[in-house]
Amino acid sequence: MNTDSKVLLRRREQSLGAGAELFYRQPIQLVRGQGAHVFDETGRRYIDFYNNVPAVGHGNTHVADAISYQQRTINVNSRYLHEGVVDYAKRLASLHCSRIESFVFGCSGTEANEVAIQMARLATGRRGILCTNAAYHGNSDLVGRLTNAGRTDQEDPEIHAFPFPDLYRPIAKGCSGQELEDAYLARIHAAIEKFDASGVGLAAMLICSLFANEGLPNLPSNFMARAADVVRAAGGLVIADEVQAGFGRTGHWWGYEATGFHPDIVTLGKPMGNGVPISAAGASRDLVERFRGRTDYFNTYASSPLQAAAGMAVLDVIERDGLLGNARQVGAMLKEGLERIAAIDPHLGDVRGRGLFIVVDVVTDRESRTPDPRRAAAMVDRLKDLGFLTAAAGAHKNLVKVRPPLVVSREDAASFLEAFETARQEICG
Ligand SMILES: Cc1ncc(COP(=O)(O)O)c(C=O)c1O
Repeated sequence: MNTDSKVLLRRREQSLGAGAELFYRQPIQLVRGQGAHVFDETGRRYIDFYNNVPAVGHGNTHVADAISYQQRTINVNSRYLHEGVVDYAKRLASLHCSRIESFVFGCSGTEANEVAIQMARLATGRRGILCTNAAYHGNSDLVGRLTNAGRTDQEDPEIHAFPFPDLYRPIAKGCSGQELEDAYLARIHAAIEKFDASGVGLAAMLICSLFANEGLPNLPSNFMARAADVVRAAGGLVIADEVQAGFGRTGHWWGYEATGFHPDIVTLGKPMGNGVPISAAGASRDLVERFRGRTDYFNTYASSPLQAAAGMAVLDVIERDGLLGNARQVGAMLKEGLERIAAIDPHLGDVRGRGLFIVVDVVTDRESRTPDPRRAAAMVDRLKDLGFLTAAAGAHKNLVKVRPPLVVSREDAASFLEAFETARQEICG
């Protein structure tokens, strides 16, 4: 770290408080970005293999022009008629399964999940929420309770966690895929029974369509569709958190298309505005209107012409530039390359993912599959030194998470694979 960055780090601690998280042992200062490339204060280039908010690229001019035009023209709160907002919601609905017709806009994924939970509770008249034991859906008091469920011994009467489905570190050993699927579904049944027994009742299951924060596990083949059936049979609603999974990340528009189920409510965020804070909870018109009728929900910056302009511009770029296809093609190349590298290293256990969302599972050894977060962090740091941004993630923080902007090129992917092999030789091999 140079002297200027050290000074900035000290000033940051003073202004933001020490403990405000930073990536990397030696943090970096980014001053500019273009496409999948970002540059530090010395002009050094890094290729971004991590950030999904600037999904259509850092410094995207189409989005920047749309925002600038809208801000110069009119930007007001949601209590005025505006054609752009309605057109945006309609276009968003047209990209979803038929259950999703209308939206409540917000400014963060957390807010979208708050709305989704309230919507499900109002619709069902029950309060129980099911989530996984390694979930992250946001940081508010209510949504944060989902993070705690399954991680503490203290029972939350309204939130029950079930073990996230995982073929690499399954809850039961030596059984067939079908038996494992049944075993995971049995945990969902058990959690629902607990809600019924306590009188809380099941309102909804809230899950990320890809279990991204859990570690992007490979799933038993029909798990998602069957889990959705179980929840609906118990009178609950299925909420798909698409905050990480959505907007083309997997090469499909939505993660739920990749994992094979239809949600009753979707929550959207992160890449939705390429950096402008936009989120949404989407559902049938009936569900949305029941929520509207009971809550008078208002969100100062949400559902504004500015949000709509940014959101519309993001959809334009994804469609115009064929970014779903790019996610599929460059993603397949990356995954194959990472699989080839991992195959020869005893510390690289599993390569998983779809489209431009891939994780490499770093382990102490292949036999035990014990997570090795220390080595994963070292890989991430070394990759950064070599000019590539990634981060460690997952339930055990032992995954090298590869999730570049959707505009990343084949050339960038080829350079990344070379750097990954170099880092592997130094840190693992
Ligand atoms: C799957 C998922 N849902 C929701 C959120 C919360 O989004 P936000 O930070 O915009 O509140 C996150 C944030 O990382 C997330 O990964």
